[in-house]
Amino acid sequence: MTVAPDSGNAISGSAISARGLAIGYSHGAGALPVLDGVDLDVPAGGFLTILGPSGCGKSTLLRVVADLLAPLAGAITVLGGPPAQARARRDIGFVFQDSTLLPWRDVRGNIELPLLVGGGRRNRPEPMATDELLALLGLAGLAERMPDQLSGGQRQRVAIARALLSRPRILLMDEPFGALDEITRDRLNDEMLALWRRTGTTILFVTHSIAEAAYLGQQVLVLAAHPGRVQEIVDLRPLKDSDGRCDRDAPEIVAVAAHLRRLLAAGSAR
Ligand SMILES: Nc1ncnc2c1ncn2[C@@H]1O[C@H](COP(=O)(O)OP(=O)(O)O)[C@@H](O)[C@H]1O
Ligand SMILES: [Mg+2]
Repeated sequence: MTVAPDSGNAISGSAISARGLAIGYSHGAGALPVLDGVDLDVPAGGFLTILGPSGCGKSTLLRVVADLLAPLAGAITVLGGPPAQARARRDIGFVFQDSTLLPWRDVRGNIELPLLVGGGRRNRPEPMATDELLALLGLAGLAERMPDQLSGGQRQRVAIARALLSRPRILLMDEPFGALDEITRDRLNDEMLALWRRTGTTILFVTHSIAEAAYLGQQVLVLAAHPGRVQEIVDLRPLKDSDGRCDRDAPEIVAVAAHLRRLLAAGSAR
């Protein structure tokens, strides 16, 4: 069940590759890493879900991938180069738990926001058509709605559409469905898998939900705290069909969820 990261160079075809990565925040002279010794390979077009106790560094890891924070030590490549290069090419999209939609712009205006603030489009693929995104995210018919006329699930769909506008090759999602009810979350999870298959985007998806991590993830990165480290990388690809799907209630998925729960408990102990 465990995939041991190879100790050599990055596997070619990796969208994200890390070796001995230490990440954290500098406090004056010293910097105690939040996470240390991270070895990781996410294949291009992969779907990695990330589980770990609160404060273990899940959001910090996404920040380093997105080049919003420099690593303290070790190596990381994003799409074969430094994270800054991927960022400059706008290869990375980000969706947060509480998507901030501009309240005075309608759905279409919020999705198209990156076009306004994006600056030059040199060497960039054509942005996706907004109507195509509306259809892709099940928002057709809601283009003229204002954010306060949307449900929580619809708002997150708008945030995802906005993140996909510039066709990023990597989508980082930080507890995007954490505030939604379970039925809405299940439906959005199915839509995420369809979206992932259709676009071929590499996805890193942080969640607190073991069920969500097992259902969405083709690989699950389980992080531990005290000290922050990789507890295990669980490969679920053998349990998924060719579309990356599985039956939520299948015995092998239930067993994986139990395994993830044990890993989390072990990694949360002080
Ligand atoms: N901007 C920051 N400056 C200093 N420390 C931070 C900052 N952001 C987060 N931290 C600390 O880094 C650790 C990991 O935070 P975070 O990555 O947000 O955890 P998680 O997303 O797993 O809950 C926590 O101890 C947190 O307090
Ligand atoms: Mg977080």
